[in-house]
Amino acid sequence: MTITAAQRYSRGAIFFHWTIALLVIVNIILGLFHESLLKGLGVMPVHFAIGMTVLILSIGRWIWRLAHPAPPLPLGMAGWEKVASKLTHWAFYLLIVLMPLSGWMMMSGGRHPRAVSWFGLFNFPILPVDKVLAGGAHEFHEIFGYAMAALVIVHIAAALRHHFILRDSVLMRMMPGSGR
Ligand code: HEM
Repeated sequence: MTITAAQRYSRGAIFFHWTIALLVIVNIILGLFHESLLKGLGVMPVHFAIGMTVLILSIGRWIWRLAHPAPPLPLGMAGWEKVASKLTHWAFYLLIVLMPLSGWMMMSGGRHPRAVSWFGLFNFPILPVDKVLAGGAHEFHEIFGYAMAALVIVHIAAALRHHFILRDSVLMRMMPGSGR
């Protein structure tokens, strides 16, 4: 399928999308399995550092998005599909910031506040968070960790449906290539 430059996401949006997507998927796997399959491998410092990287990239993504609006959705999409697509995207925009932020808050305000290290190279500051707020952040991180895992699965299924069943440009416009 050929699509024009105007129908594609910008190069920056494509970069942010795939980098953040990869890091989020790795982090969900590390988060969900650190106490079972991955127990004893010491993966959590990697989880923290990847999460903080996602936070920084996500703020960059937000800023980029302000100056580079998404291309219009393909013609012929049903109303419910457009609403579902918008809701999923905004849920992701929020979660890619709130998941790392809640993780950072729970590390900062728990029983033993700890600075988060970025791959051993430097530490992020400890946030001024009390135990109650840290507890709320912990709850949020767990519940929305599962929600985000579900959302990722739905999002991938929807992209594959567009590509292989509806055969429209939805997946291709986010593929690396001659972006705007
Ligand atoms: C993209 C960012 C992140 C995602 C998608 C993510 C996802 C998850 C998921 C799915 C879990 C498992 C929840 C559960 O089984 O209860 C988890 C656990 C955890 N995450 Fe994250 N996380 C992210 C960033 C962070 C950051 C930045 C930190 C800290 C600096 C952090 C700290 C933790 C901790 C301490 C746990 C273990 C909680 C427990 O076992 O009680 N996470 N994360």
